[in-house]
Amino acid sequence: MYREIGKYIIRDWQIEDAPSIAKYANNRKIWMNLRDAFPHPYSLQDAESFISRAIEADPITVFAIATQSEAIGSIGLMLGKDVHRFTAEIGYWLAEPFWGKGIMTQAVKSLTAYAIRDLKLHRIFAEPYSTNPASVRVLEKASFICEGILRSNVFKDGKVLDQFLYSYVGKPSTQPVI
Ligand SMILES: CC(C)(COP(=O)(O)OP(=O)(O)OC[C@H]1O[C@@H](n2cnc3c(N)ncnc32)[C@H](O)[C@@H]1OP(=O)(O)O)[C@@H](O)C(=O)NCCC(=O)NCCS
Repeated sequence: MYREIGKYIIRDWQIEDAPSIAKYANNRKIWMNLRDAFPHPYSLQDAESFISRAIEADPITVFAIATQSEAIGSIGLMLGKDVHRFTAEIGYWLAEPFWGKGIMTQAVKSLTAYAIRDLKLHRIFAEPYSTNPASVRVLEKASFICEGILRSNVFKDGKVLDQFLYSYVGKPSTQPVI
């Protein structure tokens, strides 16, 4: 996959991205908003194994967000199985120096369109923690709808948190251009 979002790019991972990702992912503010499976501290070896898994997957559903010179974040789809095979969870993070420029809103719009038009999925969902207004704002700007609150659904950093459930639903034939 290759998509331009302004002066940034969504593209396939390359193993050469590992040093920049290890640098940017090693950030507690990022870890706080993701699952505990996201390492902290985040080492070069963590970056290499993450990128290897992303490259070897079939189909490839996890992509780098990058400048012309380095990877600055990640966005991907976790595909559902069985009766959920037309749905996917979208997940993402961005390097802190690049926050607040509208990059992730564009990336979420772009990957959602790709999921519906190219992968033929029907529903994309996200479950931001209630402590993450920036991600909620991204999803709302990308036309995701809040379907509810998953009460006490997360135990993160020693605290029980609520989670929001957001989704974007569409069929390929009726999909508006976003
Ligand atoms: C969430 C994240 C991806 C946002 O990326 P981004 O490129 O900065 O997002 P955008 O610039 O497209 O939009 C962010 C919006 O959130 C708003 N925002 C940021 N912090 C906020 C806060 N504390 N309260 C309310 N709104 C906030 C911004 O003002 C902006 O909205 P606006 O355009 O209406 O002004 C990034 O902060 C990140 O990687 N966070 C850590 C990982 C994470 O949370 N991943 C998502 C897990 S569900």
